[in-house]
Amino acid sequence: MCEKRLEDRVAIVTGGARGIGQGICFRFADEGAKVAVFDVTPDEAKEVAGEIKKSGGAALALKVDVTKAAEIEKAVKEVISKFGKVDILVNNAGITRPSKVADMTDEVWDSVVEVNLKGVFLCCRAVIPHMKAQKYGKIVSIASILAQRGGPYYAHYGATKAGVVSFTQSLAIELGRHNINVNAVGPGIIDTPMAAGDVASELQQSLIKRIPLRRIGTPRDIADAALFLASDEAAYITGQCLYVCGGWSAAAGLG
Ligand SMILES: NC(=O)c1ccc[n+]([C@@H]2O[C@H](COP(=O)([O-])OP(=O)(O)OC[C@H]3O[C@@H](n4cnc5c(N)ncnc54)[C@H](O)[C@@H]3O)[C@@H](O)[C@H]2O)c1
Repeated sequence: MCEKRLEDRVAIVTGGARGIGQGICFRFADEGAKVAVFDVTPDEAKEVAGEIKKSGGAALALKVDVTKAAEIEKAVKEVISKFGKVDILVNNAGITRPSKVADMTDEVWDSVVEVNLKGVFLCCRAVIPHMKAQKYGKIVSIASILAQRGGPYYAHYGATKAGVVSFTQSLAIELGRHNINVNAVGPGIIDTPMAAGDVASELQQSLIKRIPLRRIGTPRDIADAALFLASDEAAYITGQCLYVCGGWSAAAGLG
């Protein structure tokens, strides 16, 4: 029988209640991980944990806002008291709040930076001491194709995602000697509630023509990449961003 790729690992997935995060929770649980679902929506997070338990896995749902250091630290302690350790952190929670720069309020800018960038920093800071002590850790942050390409209405969002990629590189250098891998995944357009809220389906159809693989991605596409980076198959990869975008980021826009 084939060994599961995350057997006995303990993973925290932020924003795990729906969309890409939910896909990552299910995929990791299928591969044997005990999964802690951190989200601001506790009922949906409980449903995800419940599904995992129904299929014979181990999971825990915790109400955590990734912008609140005290909540994160308390939740990490709860994960350690229930599952004994933290091996994997997936920084997935994110928001978009599309707006033209000229119309953008301070509040919109600050909220996107707080969740998408500061949230990644706060969650990493909370798990690093535990990962260092056990000389093992995998941190995977969900960035975006907009870390390397511009998009109207997404200047603040793209800036946070470029920040996540840069943060990933520096943190990888800091933690390499502790056997902690730090990487990112850069999704293209993925079929989730976030994408449905931001991009009308007619626009999605026209975007497909610019994607070499000619389809919108699925949460499973991103979960597979996150699984690889969180597994020991990626033991010699750190400080990288893997773009999972159907080839979109490679295109020059010529057809
Ligand atoms: N869907 C896409 O096309 C796409 C493309 C590129 C990158 N991404 C990135 O992938 C990640 C997941 O996106 P998605 O499409 O699944 O989004 P989504 O909106 O469908 O799900 C996001 C989840 O994060 C949670 N969340 C939001 N703010 C939070 C906070 N402060 N603390 C804890 N949880 C919080 C939400 O409750 C929700 O469960 C995000 O980082 C997003 O920027 C998505």
